[in-house]
Amino acid sequence: MKIYLETYGCQMNEYDSELILSILKKADHNIVKSANEADVAFLNTCAIRENAHTRIYNRLDEMRGRKKRGQKLVVGVLGCMAQSLREELKDKAPVVDIIAGPDSYKRLPSLISEACGGDTGYDLSLSEYETYSDIAPVRVPGVNAWIAIMRGCDNFCTFCVVPYTRGRERSRSPQSIIEETEAIVAQGFKQVTLLGQNVNSYKYGNYDFADLMKMVGDVPGMRRVRFTSPHPKDFPMKLLQVMKNHPKLCNQIHLPLQAGSTEVLDRMNRTYSKQEFLDVVAEIRDTIPDVSLSTDIICGFCGETDKDFEDTIEVVEQVQFDSAFIFKYSERKNTIASRKYPDDVSEEIKSKRIHELVQIQRGISLVRNELDVGKIFDVLIEQPSKKNREEWLGRSDQNKGVVFSAPQNKPGDFVKVKIVSAGTNTLRGEVVTPAVAFCV
Ligand code: SAH
Ligand code: SF4
Ligand code: F3S
Repeated sequence: MKIYLETYGCQMNEYDSELILSILKKADHNIVKSANEADVAFLNTCAIRENAHTRIYNRLDEMRGRKKRGQKLVVGVLGCMAQSLREELKDKAPVVDIIAGPDSYKRLPSLISEACGGDTGYDLSLSEYETYSDIAPVRVPGVNAWIAIMRGCDNFCTFCVVPYTRGRERSRSPQSIIEETEAIVAQGFKQVTLLGQNVNSYKYGNYDFADLMKMVGDVPGMRRVRFTSPHPKDFPMKLLQVMKNHPKLCNQIHLPLQAGSTEVLDRMNRTYSKQEFLDVVAEIRDTIPDVSLSTDIICGFCGETDKDFEDTIEVVEQVQFDSAFIFKYSERKNTIASRKYPDDVSEEIKSKRIHELVQIQRGISLVRNELDVGKIFDVLIEQPSKKNREEWLGRSDQNKGVVFSAPQNKPGDFVKVKIVSAGTNTLRGEVVTPAVAFCV
């Protein structure tokens, strides 16, 4: 069969798509680059906010059009939306032939056979054990590779659908993660990003996340190690020490705030207060002074008052995040918030607040980036810059995008770059002579 796969959502889904490709290739299917030439089209979906669903319904309408026009196409919905919508998806979108959740990908070859025989194939069982440790992902070429070190989430933040779409938390063995890291090095990747919904609850036997980071950093040939995301509630000092002392572990932390008001954080079940979040940040900055910090924030969660929103602004201004992803609250079916709290902040106020916060954060990002002007960074070249294909886009250890010209270099090279100017999203630099790749 010719199979086409499209991926939506977070890095975890991108990684899962690499597992899916591996499972399908092993079953002798061929992967194609467009839905036009496919016998089977899979959408690996996200459910985090309503607009993620809307995109998929639009895409399914388009698939229905293809079928109507006579293309013989099996359509499959995979991932988080498949898991969370189940019945609704079957009713609303009869175009769908296969539905499989994040723990069911090993069943895809048999679901395809069933669907080709005219049956509809569903598998939405969630597993307490599946970690896909035995599958070698078919990776998208580049400088960075993902590794999911754990799956699922047990935190049940009240706004969040992930514990329902990805099931219970389970960690992979360090041995399987190290073997995968060695394979990545052998394939030429320079950087690995360890993924989990809450990496600091990684636990396997006596190994915790800090142990794992050190082990991955020690893999010969691996040049940079990043991770996402930790939870502010149990950010371990041990991890900060390991990050500080290990040259391969990047000084960058994505620390989701979600809201600044302690009352709102309580309703979100985040289990930390405004002050506790600020204390964690102070501890991080004390230990790793040149760390870069990014965050996620939700505007307009249930019951959020103007005063609560001011708390969010206060934390954002105090912490000075290098960057932030800011979202409007989107009520998700079956979550605790949808059962317990009315979604009572109007669309208009959500829009006003997100707009205000984005403006504030843009100003802060610019100031943070301007502090880098004159500094020299080790930059890993990723790809040609989108604006000017003659220039490169690379990243500093702190994960800042740097644009510069270095005709004699290529993606995967490390170069020393001096920052000459700063924008809100990227830095501009000049290669420090001699302009040759060097080893860190
Ligand atoms: N496990 C990660 C979050 C994954 S979801 C973590 O805890 O860091 C990524 C982000 O989406 C969250 O941090 C949150 O800011 C946002 N998000 C989750 N559910 C949402 C909802 N119902 N409405 C709006 N944003 C949401
Ligand atoms: Fe969702 Fe909270 Fe788990 Fe993150 S930690 S995936 S926000 S429930
Ligand atoms: Fe990721 Fe979206 Fe699922 S953010 S975990 S793909 S709901």
